[in-house]
Amino acid sequence: MSVKEIFEELNPPQRLIMGPGPVNVDPRVLNAMSMPLLGQFDPAFTEYMNETMVLYRQIFQTKNRWTILIDGTARSAIETFMVSVLEPGDKVLVPVFGRFGHLLTEIAERCGADVEVIEVEWGVVFDPQQIEDAVKRVRPKVVALCQGDTSTTMAQPLEEIGEICSRYDAISFVDATASLVGMDLPVDKWKLDCVSAGLQKCLAGPPGIAPITFNDKVAEIVNRRKHIEKGIRPEGFVAAKGSMVASNYFDLGMLMDYWSDTRLNHHTEATSMLYAARECARIVLKEGLIDIFDRHSLASRAMIAGLEGLGLKVFGDKKYKMPNATGVYIPDHIDGEAARAQMLHDFGIEIGTSFGPLHGKIWRIGAMGYNCRKHNILTCLAALEATLRQNNVSVPAGGGVDAALKEFRANGQ
Ligand SMILES: Cc1ncc(COP(=O)(O)O)c(C=O)c1O
Repeated sequence: MSVKEIFEELNPPQRLIMGPGPVNVDPRVLNAMSMPLLGQFDPAFTEYMNETMVLYRQIFQTKNRWTILIDGTARSAIETFMVSVLEPGDKVLVPVFGRFGHLLTEIAERCGADVEVIEVEWGVVFDPQQIEDAVKRVRPKVVALCQGDTSTTMAQPLEEIGEICSRYDAISFVDATASLVGMDLPVDKWKLDCVSAGLQKCLAGPPGIAPITFNDKVAEIVNRRKHIEKGIRPEGFVAAKGSMVASNYFDLGMLMDYWSDTRLNHHTEATSMLYAARECARIVLKEGLIDIFDRHSLASRAMIAGLEGLGLKVFGDKKYKMPNATGVYIPDHIDGEAARAQMLHDFGIEIGTSFGPLHGKIWRIGAMGYNCRKHNILTCLAALEATLRQNNVSVPAGGGVDAALKEFRANGQ
């Protein structure tokens, strides 16, 4: 890298990002991020915070008063929940069906929790009965699981999980980073206690701020540990009896005061990210949740048809596949990473690699948020076909695009 290069204007190459996220950001969101900054207690800005809470209540389909945003990538909201709710020795149950279940486990362990894991092989999901049996046996304080795990492209049905948890007096936590807005997640109807996400998948925003919603049950646990930083403590404030949360940044009690009318001076809100989050939610709700779920579902069917039309095999139990991400086996005798690099070099298209037991075996192709559109799916399939041919894989000419197009045509596109 020369000194001259460092002083060149930032000019990223044009890409179509068809991986498991992040994906291309909606230009309207980029536009919102360039709006003038405001002071964090400017009434115009606190009003934007309030509006953002209203919008995310609709996104999460909840009446939860506590629907706020955490500054940081998606895992910042996971950490906020865990560090604020879990105390050393608390029991946590994590049903793991991919890499991000292991992430939940690790974060809970870092909080000193006694974590019990149940696992299924990558490519399938749990029968709710398996989760109920484990909850009955472990009697955890918290059950933490993903809705969609991008590492396997599987989506765990959650309809019964909240109810199971409440029957055994456990708090349910769902990581919906990869699935929120790509598929249905009615938080209140499914009786989920806390759900968190990120912007960089189906919400079509950049990584860097994390929506979270939680009910009064969770708020009560947090308030039992309420401490306030000395320099900003109101006169007469008496700390709660519970242990002080080990993180200042992710202390949900102080964050609740920051986001409510109390307007406690905690961190400096990430102004441009708040604008981004507000714009992401506004765009989604303007389209409508049902329409956006349908858009992702049709894209999924078209992607499967296209990949199979190329003679490839889709990974995992298709019945439980996330609509916004599709795993596909890499044909024998080709170097999957080299082929991915060719797609990027020749077509400017990024598809995803894979982790753990799937590394080198599957690619993960995303169609989500702003990118979840017919022309992107067709372009990606056409590029994949050409790349396979360049690697001496014999593929039916036009088989991918034709099959996907048939699916789109059958649905009026
Ligand atoms: C299901 C799931 N959970 C958590 C994360 C972590 O998100 P972040 O990298 O934004 O912290 C991801 C990222 O891909 C994810 O797919």
